[in-house]
Amino acid sequence: MFVAALFLSLSPLVAPAAQQALATDGYGAVCSSQVDATQVGLDILAAGGNAVDAAIAMHFALAVTYPYAGNLGGGGFFLLRDANGEAWFLDFREVAPAAATPDMYLNEGGKPVADWSRVGWKAVGVPGAVPGMWEAHQRWGKLPWKELVMPAAALARNGYVIDHLEVKRLQRAAKTFKKDALAARLFYDADGEAWPAGTRLRQPELAATLQTIAKDGIDAMRGGAIIEELVAASDAGGGILRVEDFRDYRPELRPVIRFDWQGREVLGASPPSSGGIFLQQVLTSLDGFPLRLWGFQDVRSVQLIGEASSAAFRDRNKWLGDPAGRDFDLQALVDKDYLRERRRRLSGTHYTRPNSDMPQPFAEHLQTTHFSVVDGDGAAVSCTTTLNGLFGAKVMAPGGFVMNNEMDDFAAKPGEPNQFGLVQSSYNAVIAGNRPLSSMSPAIVVVDGKVDAVVGSPGGPTILTSVLQVILNRYVFGMSPYRAVNAPRFHRQDLPPTLHFEPRRLNASMRYALSTLGQPIKSRSTLGDVNAIFRTSNGWRAIADPRWSGGAGVVATPAE
Ligand code: DON
Repeated sequence: MFVAALFLSLSPLVAPAAQQALATDGYGAVCSSQVDATQVGLDILAAGGNAVDAAIAMHFALAVTYPYAGNLGGGGFFLLRDANGEAWFLDFREVAPAAATPDMYLNEGGKPVADWSRVGWKAVGVPGAVPGMWEAHQRWGKLPWKELVMPAAALARNGYVIDHLEVKRLQRAAKTFKKDALAARLFYDADGEAWPAGTRLRQPELAATLQTIAKDGIDAMRGGAIIEELVAASDAGGGILRVEDFRDYRPELRPVIRFDWQGREVLGASPPSSGGIFLQQVLTSLDGFPLRLWGFQDVRSVQLIGEASSAAFRDRNKWLGDPAGRDFDLQALVDKDYLRERRRRLSGTHYTRPNSDMPQPFAEHLQTTHFSVVDGDGAAVSCTTTLNGLFGAKVMAPGGFVMNNEMDDFAAKPGEPNQFGLVQSSYNAVIAGNRPLSSMSPAIVVVDGKVDAVVGSPGGPTILTSVLQVILNRYVFGMSPYRAVNAPRFHRQDLPPTLHFEPRRLNASMRYALSTLGQPIKSRSTLGDVNAIFRTSNGWRAIADPRWSGGAGVVATPAE
């Protein structure tokens, strides 16, 4: 068999139309938001790696070439359906440092101070990225660890080409990010301007760190020079991280949320992700409504999906958090009778008002990233990874990597909104060693015992509605893979009550009809960045979200 990488060299200028299907033979498909990372995944599949190997290598590559979200200093969720059909969920999300306290983001008057949990070292959770990738490799990897890390080290050493989207992100983050001396030197010129598009960006410190990780494996992140220097930087910047936090961090294997949906099986992530429960609640409660008959462009469809989403957000915010703090049976939230009763109350013509009005959500410019992989044996990985905010806490470890601000995903003060406008409960309070509740929602759909779709997205709470709507588009509205991802989306999350929609999603009469029900409506330029893979009768289709031009989905195998 011909090696895909020999004839498939992706250009950074891959046009959206070319992202769909580059048919080759025998290896699977990969899809990410950055073209060099996609190439790395493809190379690993071509070298005989499985989906897990490709995903690990892509995660490391994204830490280099997608630095506002890809990471060594963050965390995420890794959902796997292996070649035997077994499903696994590896949680490598950040934890609150041992020195964290429930009131650490409150001022003397007891009010949350947003900046403390969002910017600078105090906002940083103990990252799980490297331990997570290590654990995935130990359990399911096939190629040697070093082979999975070295492509990223090479990208850091030799550089990658910055595109126009990255320039914009650097410009947006500049004011705060440039205060970090290493970030200022790496990402901005002597006048403090972001490097122009087309610049080859080299990251020597990160290259050295990755080389150490390639050589020493997990030990490189449990102590030693990389961690000691990081902790010293944290101390100097008012952070609370300790070397022991890194020594003690463990990724966790969690239950996979799996449920039948109209003859298919949906696999999702359990807490601290809210993704699987959200999908199960919404898809189950929408069952039985004639959405397909009404169609995509119908006000009742939008209203019902919005109602079901809002109701699921209400439960998410009230009941979910780190499973360690749960004192009830999670099954109660997906119980058949409970969801049957919810379905009975859902209405295509009645708008359920949240009990109070809240400020608008969405500090703009936030980033996370999702990538999807399938291999030639039918295994699939759906992985979402994050620094939380754009360039996380906007501070860098001396080892050349950006640190997360995941502590802001906790409820700094239960009952008050966070940066996404989410009003959450004490189940998500800041507790040392706990993980903050997340909206990241890697998902896999299985049909007739085979992986049929691998889906995920960034976007804070809009992740949940983006993933849901891609699944509805594909399976209920019968769209092609490309349309299922490209179709304009909308978002409702209970509080705040506003329905956000992308241009072309709601026509004027739908907007009018929805507003007469009493809901505020607002347009948003984009919702989500889905990188998904679908099975079709002609083989895989890998769709990098056409909303963003930098991504790349590549199919490396036709249908058998
Ligand atoms: O885990 C979460 O829910 C958030 N940290 C995700 C943040 C995010 O998606 C921002 N991206 N656009």
